[in-house]
Amino acid sequence: MLDGFWYIAAESRLVRPGRLTATVLANQAIVLVRDRSGTVQALEDRCAHRGVPLSSGRLDGESIQCPYHGWRFSTSGACLEAPVLGAGAAPKSACVRSYPVQEQDGWVWVYMGNERCPIPAVPPPAFPVPADGSAVSLLRMSMPVKSRMEFAVDNFIDPAHVPFVHAGIFRQRKAQRLKEKEFIRLPQGFRTVSANVLLPNTIVFRAVTPTLAPAKTTVDFLMPGIHLETFEVGTRWGAIMVAVTPLTEHSTRLDFTMGWNFLRGVFPLVWLARLIGGIVLRQDRRIIELQEQGHRHKNTMNLSLDSDRLAVWYRQLQKYHLDQLAGVSNLQHPVPEKVTLRWVT
Ligand code: FES
Ligand SMILES: [Fe+2]
Repeated sequence: MLDGFWYIAAESRLVRPGRLTATVLANQAIVLVRDRSGTVQALEDRCAHRGVPLSSGRLDGESIQCPYHGWRFSTSGACLEAPVLGAGAAPKSACVRSYPVQEQDGWVWVYMGNERCPIPAVPPPAFPVPADGSAVSLLRMSMPVKSRMEFAVDNFIDPAHVPFVHAGIFRQRKAQRLKEKEFIRLPQGFRTVSANVLLPNTIVFRAVTPTLAPAKTTVDFLMPGIHLETFEVGTRWGAIMVAVTPLTEHSTRLDFTMGWNFLRGVFPLVWLARLIGGIVLRQDRRIIELQEQGHRHKNTMNLSLDSDRLAVWYRQLQKYHLDQLAGVSNLQHPVPEKVTLRWVT
């Protein structure tokens, strides 16, 4: 799992004032606390004394007390008191690791750094907004997946599975045709823009635009695992962000945000978006978990086709990031400045 990135720790509404919220992120146990000012703090969920999870302790105003020997820690991780030393006295060397936190678009983002990248260089990726400044409805969903993060990321940047795994939802299988997609390099990934897409005649796109007028779509991949898609049809605008969140070596969560600026507050549309979003995520989860099964005894793949190139770039971007952190000189961004890929979908 890559350090030096922001990851989604939880949905904001689930981190309630006065509660200790335990979670796992990138193989680290974390406890989230919303302090009196409403700001969320993230600490390692492990007492500095003998390692008992602090989330099993007590939140007492602005401090957390461990249930084993009563050590108290501030919500920024400083040890305030070890009762065995006498009231108010604390061992100088004891503190709990704290992580940078930012709340954005209804999510709590936590920055996972290390000694090479302790401070975030950029804020977490923001959900896009329409250029005309119109108001947007947001929908959020999370889905756990029993697989390594890599296979979940592969799935979201893979064009070739759509007619098979999501048959009938985004595309009718019989409507497949050759596509040429131009990709450009982004500092943290890659982008493809399609200026004049004829939307497929399926239920999803009928809901978005009954007339199926041509659309402009932009699809970005950003490290470490952000898939961001926006579309515009006339004044109608929508976006989808899937953040692939690593929990442990073999468990991952898909954190999904959808936003749109039309028919806002129309209940059936919110309901339909949640229903279809849930169906699509379950279809992806099923195939990602099957891939994980297929790699139980053997870890090889054939990534030789144009439609697999994105998965290759993703692996190269991981190495590029690690090399950057290691201070390797003369590094080349692995994605070409501009390249056309072809596939039938
Ligand atoms: S383990 Fe937490 S106070 Fe001892
Ligand atoms: Fe998919």
